[in-house]
Amino acid sequence: DTLTTLGDKTTTKYVGAAVNEGWFSDASYSGTASDYYNLVTAENSCKFSAIQHTQGSFDFSSCDQVQKFAEDNSMAFRGHNTCWGVNNPSWLDNGNFTSPELVDILENHVTTVLKYYKGKAVAWDVVNEAISDAAPYDLKLNTWNNITADEVNTNYVDVAFRAARQADPDAKLFYNDYNVASSQGWSQGKSDAMYNMVKSMLDRGVPIDGVGLQMHVGTGYDLVDGVKANMERYGDLGLEVHITELDLVCSQKNGYDCVWSDDMEKQQGELYATLLQACLDTEACTNFETWGFTDAHSWLEDGTHPLPFDENYDQKKAVGSMLDTLAGY
Ligand code: G3I
Repeated sequence: DTLTTLGDKTTTKYVGAAVNEGWFSDASYSGTASDYYNLVTAENSCKFSAIQHTQGSFDFSSCDQVQKFAEDNSMAFRGHNTCWGVNNPSWLDNGNFTSPELVDILENHVTTVLKYYKGKAVAWDVVNEAISDAAPYDLKLNTWNNITADEVNTNYVDVAFRAARQADPDAKLFYNDYNVASSQGWSQGKSDAMYNMVKSMLDRGVPIDGVGLQMHVGTGYDLVDGVKANMERYGDLGLEVHITELDLVCSQKNGYDCVWSDDMEKQQGELYATLLQACLDTEACTNFETWGFTDAHSWLEDGTHPLPFDENYDQKKAVGSMLDTLAGY
């Protein structure tokens, strides 16, 4: 039994994980990833800073390792990401480029990357985390936002998506963000803002195929009904939804009153399964993906136990719960 059971039944739903090519040489790491998942995303190595660390010189070597890992193991490869306001190379952020120069840089990067992986990526996060965290939820101030509306008609988000569609008409183009998964509860404001932004893109003919809901949440997350409602409203727009970066942190430091225990592991496992079920039950949801898969390698602090496998690659209760959920699909 593996989580790829789902992929065997239908090629339109994925169960994926972010991976880091630095660990592929560890057989426990690569074996678990390829046995249990049918889609991978590079955690870092396909980002702008990895591919165009030096202006005008494109280095695909690290991103290629993840894409080839996917290909070698008959998994789908999901691209992340071509345009983001943070983690950019210093030449880009410190370059004091004019708006027309930034348009050229953005179009050149998106076009070069999507053409290079043409036919090899099922989807790309074309733009990542553009929306501010507080009302009125304008676009965040960052290098890309120095692209002026006058010149490109709207904003840099449109520029990136239009370039992406031209470069690879078959890749599904996604907008990906955090604190936007539920259309109810504490995340409603930003979630509605993202929905409105995406809807307005569709209204003016900007090519977009789906939205990524990151879901860096926690073992206490209780907005599953809101997640379903949100996925459905995107479905009503004709868009796909990918849960892209799910992890369920257990941490007192992050505001959750959480002490790791058998009960907490069970609660975490049930929440993973409930969220997976919500994706399975929603036609628009086509990818259920965690940000990493083993507690041995997570961007989150050690001791927060966020992922389905433990530090030794042993299954936590989440794996059994998710397999049961998939078996009932
Ligand atoms: O590779 C260098 C290493 O050579 C150097 O010695 C070390 C010193 O700091 O840094 C290493 O790079 C780090 C890289 O992770 C690899 O570990 C970067 O500093 C660090 O900023 C980078 O963090 C990543 C972060 O995105 C920023 O790109 C995290 O691993 C990654 O999990 C995180 O992922 C993001 C998604 O892309 C978007 N959504 C949120 C999510 C979590 O923050």
